[in-house]
Amino acid sequence: MSTPYRVLFVCLGNICRSPLAEALLRSKDPEGRFEVDSAGTSGFHQGESPDYRTRKSAARHGLSMEGIRSRPIEPADLDRFDVILAMDRSNREALWQMAQTDAQRAKIRLMLDELQLGAELEVPDPFHGGDEGFEQVYALLDKACDALVERTRSHI
Ligand code: 4NP
Repeated sequence: MSTPYRVLFVCLGNICRSPLAEALLRSKDPEGRFEVDSAGTSGFHQGESPDYRTRKSAARHGLSMEGIRSRPIEPADLDRFDVILAMDRSNREALWQMAQTDAQRAKIRLMLDELQLGAELEVPDPFHGGDEGFEQVYALLDKACDALVERTRSHI
C-alpha cells in the first residue's frame, strides 16, 4: 500500500451511509494517510447534501459534513481508488456489475468486512426508518472506520 490510500465508500443514494463514512474516516485521519470519497450506485440524489437525519446524527457527535454532495459512481472510480467499500450486498452487486477487470473486482468489499467477523454483515439502509436507525448506522460506521485505520496502520 502507498500513501495516500484511496478509499471510496458506496451506498444507494449517497446521502445517508456512505457520506457519513466519508466524514468519519476523514475525521480519524489527521495525518492525511487517506484520500476519501463516497458515491451512490444511483443518481437519485445527485448534487444534494446528506440527508438531514444523517447531518443531525453527525452533529450530535461533533462531526462536520460540510461540503459533501451526492454523486453517482462512475466506471473510472473502479480504477481511481485502492479499495471500494459497499454498505450492503445489493450495492456490492451493482459494483460487481460495473467492474470490467479482475483488478477492479478485487477492490470491492463490504464495509463491515473491516470488522473481520467472518459474516456478510451489512450496514442497514436507514432511509425509510426513524432516528434510531441513523444512530445505529453511525455506531457501525464508527467501528468499521476505526478497524480500517488500524488494519492499514502498518502499511501506509
Ligand atoms: P443511502 O440511503 O443509500 O444510505 O444514501 C438511501 C437514500 C435514498 C434512498 C434509499 C436509500 N432512496 O430510495 O431515495
